[in-house]
Amino acid sequence: MAHRIAIIAGDGIGTEVMPEGTRALEAAAKRFDIELEFTTFEFGSCDYYLEHGKMLPDDWFEQLKGFDALFYGAVGWPDKVPDHISLWGSLLQFRRRFDQYINLRPCKLMPGIKSPLAGREPGDIDFYVVRENTEGEYSSVGGKMYEGTEREIVIQETVMSRTGVDRVLKYAFELAQTRPRKKLTSATKSNGISITMPYWDERVIEMAKSYPEIAVDKFHIDILTANFVLHPDWFDVVVGSNLFGDILSDLGPACTGTIGIAPSANINPEGNFPSLFEPVHGSAPDIAGKGIANPIGQIWSGAMMLEHLGYKEAGDAIVTAIEEVLSEGNSQVLTRDVGGQGTTESLGKAIADAVSR
Ligand code: NAD
Ligand code: IPM
Ligand code: MN
Repeated sequence: MAHRIAIIAGDGIGTEVMPEGTRALEAAAKRFDIELEFTTFEFGSCDYYLEHGKMLPDDWFEQLKGFDALFYGAVGWPDKVPDHISLWGSLLQFRRRFDQYINLRPCKLMPGIKSPLAGREPGDIDFYVVRENTEGEYSSVGGKMYEGTEREIVIQETVMSRTGVDRVLKYAFELAQTRPRKKLTSATKSNGISITMPYWDERVIEMAKSYPEIAVDKFHIDILTANFVLHPDWFDVVVGSNLFGDILSDLGPACTGTIGIAPSANINPEGNFPSLFEPVHGSAPDIAGKGIANPIGQIWSGAMMLEHLGYKEAGDAIVTAIEEVLSEGNSQVLTRDVGGQGTTESLGKAIADAVSR
């Protein structure tokens, strides 16, 4: 039976990298005899907002909930629509309403790419950021008071529920169990944020009791960011709250040379709702329209989607193709962020060809 995939390209380079994402998926589907059926939606973009006054139609949940997965590009065009409106009106709704409480973001130094960190080779940087994706600092609890007066005050609460914290920790511990090093690092800030973060630490200690084989450490987020740069080889599975995970999952890929290659999976592990696969990067207005965006973040996200749908071998074949093309180092093929002069399409086609070989 065909797997139904909803495609939402979004804005800016989202619309440029998406065709390369589907190209690689089609190549893998053909090689591994998988039936994928793509349905494209125009909503979830700033152009849709400008036409309709909202980012999504009222029945978006009904329209999307029956899909096996959502494949997203990137959303946001701050000159047209304020970011908090475009993002809260689309991506963040998907994550919350589809209960995609895990945001899994691999950070891996790939062959052929130079890390900006001196002396780092592939193998030195290879870890996962597991980001809590539905609560924490990204809460809608709060408001504005005394607006327009000198007493004006804005409040936005951090929300941590026991269910919400425990389920992301459990996922991270279980992921660590599958890794050779069996190591988990918790991102905290319990020295300064004195209620929610000590609670996070307590739940980590509690959860660790069920996973005695996992080595656990924790760092406050300030020194943790420093250690990503100084000692990226220390990390294996790094788990953090919504905001900390967001920050770490741009910093980690930057240490691997470019955020253009970083993929992510927004997962509802129970399968009650579709999961969503998208690159970590945004719509990059500064390079949009030039055809030079690196499509690997989108393509690798497609690989994660195939694995999620039960096709690990096909997902692995895409990642191997990415590694092959990067190792070949053909500057006519590679995009500028990884030292080439090629285009989104030249890199996307080379990867799709490598998947087919
Ligand atoms: P960004 O990720 O769009 O861009 C940051 C920098 O990285 C830019 O210089 C850009 O050119 C570069 N870059 C990003 N992706 C690249 C790629 N594939 N290849 C080569 N270079 C790449 O972040 P930003 O500038 O903070 O945000 C721009 C817009 O995207 C905003 O509206 C923001 O809210 C939105 N955004 C959306 C998502 C998402 O949809 N998941 C994620 C992040 C940001
Ligand atoms: C990401 C993005 C989003 C986030 C923004 C665009 C709302 O930065 O997916 O990492 O903060 O989650
Ligand atoms: Mn981010």
